[in-house]
Amino acid sequence: MSFTVAIDGPAASGKGTISRAIAEHFGFAHLDTGLLYRAVGNKTLTQGDSPEIATKLAQELTADDLNADDLRSAEVAQAASKIAVIPQVRTALVAFQKTFAKQPSGAVLDGRDIGTVICPDADVKLFVTASAQVRARRRYAELSIKDNSITPEQVLADIKLRDARDAGRDIAPMIAAPDAHLIDTSNMKIAEAIAAVIAIIKARHDQNHSV
Ligand code: CDP
Repeated sequence: MSFTVAIDGPAASGKGTISRAIAEHFGFAHLDTGLLYRAVGNKTLTQGDSPEIATKLAQELTADDLNADDLRSAEVAQAASKIAVIPQVRTALVAFQKTFAKQPSGAVLDGRDIGTVICPDADVKLFVTASAQVRARRRYAELSIKDNSITPEQVLADIKLRDARDAGRDIAPMIAAPDAHLIDTSNMKIAEAIAAVIAIIKARHDQNHSV
């Protein structure tokens, strides 16, 4: 029997770290769906970002594209959120994500629309958030290792711009599903957040197996 965990939330909220820890703890497969959008966005930087080109790139995406260099850069993040507003791009990526969610070992997917669009019937839904200031501090710590020209102010501005674009788009906007557990990690250590999420998932898992 498959078991699906949907984790949504804004940039640098902790959802990726929590997802990886959950996958390891429960033996679930993990899909970072942001990587799909980043891979398409990355290609648009050299091939053009018209809706037609971006849609074709999404339709032709391969596993290799997910291993491209620099997918985690600030530039690629902005490119990803720009192409993520194009309905045909999103449609091209739906089937892969839905199939991934159904694997028998269980699956955790993280992104922006997992609990609302990709897996509306997920066993557990979480919306992980934190203040923009805290998220910008975390993201600056990650990005400044590779790019010493980046500034904290620039990272905060980038995060705010991406939040607004992701939450404001017409199709599959970033929003908590009504039945999602809200986890605000602003004042939490990551280990505390992981422990809280493990408890939520375990309770649901035990419930599924007792009926
Ligand atoms: O790691 P971070 O949270 O900064 O970003 P990400 O999860 O890698 O996602 C990059 C961008 O892809 C987001 O800003 C969204 O615009 C888009 N995205 C989306 O639209 N839907 C998803 N399920 C995942 C990502």
